[in-house]
Amino acid sequence: MGTVPALSARAVAAEAYRDAISHHPAGVAIVTAADGNAPVGMTVSTVTSHSVAPPTLSCDLALDSATLAVIRSTGGYAIHLLAEDQTDLAVRFAARATDRFAGTGWWRWHGLPVLPGVLARFACELHTDIEIGDHALVLGTVVDLDVDPTRRPLVHHRRGFHSVR
Ligand SMILES: Cc1cc2nc3c(=O)[nH]c(=O)nc-3n(C[C@H](O)[C@H](O)[C@H](O)COP(=O)(O)O)c2cc1C
Repeated sequence: MGTVPALSARAVAAEAYRDAISHHPAGVAIVTAADGNAPVGMTVSTVTSHSVAPPTLSCDLALDSATLAVIRSTGGYAIHLLAEDQTDLAVRFAARATDRFAGTGWWRWHGLPVLPGVLARFACELHTDIEIGDHALVLGTVVDLDVDPTRRPLVHHRRGFHSVR
């Protein structure tokens, strides 16, 4: 692929990029995996659906993420789409130095740690991951799902949490 010198000479500053992309509204999710007996998990806003047959979901995880390391070593993970009343869970699963699962009432489903009260959960088998810059695009085949259609989604936009009306 050729480069366009006039464009490649201009680097976009990370903060300008983060600010611009924060205008893109995104559903909030938590990705979990099982590190032996210990559950791990993190908040993400990068869940995207790809193929329908087979059903394929992706999320984009920072290369230094503890959750990514466990997904790579075990090959399995769960994606939870959060409901509008789960902002506290979204904040907790992005925070450092805290027991993210304490008091959540989590249990195991297909051997994966899962959380209650969510809009939907998907059990995924890792298909592949592709490193792009400082993140890995994690693609997984959905092997089971569970949806509560009475719940409404939690959305992240301009660094805040919102409901859909
Ligand atoms: C709303 C929201 C969305 C986020 N989306 C992502 C994401 O898509 N990918 C990512 O790597 N981190 C994302 N983060 C940051 C991670 O949740 C955070 O860095 C977390 O501590 C990583 O956990 P781990 O290193 O223990 O796996 C997001 C945080 C918030 C609050």
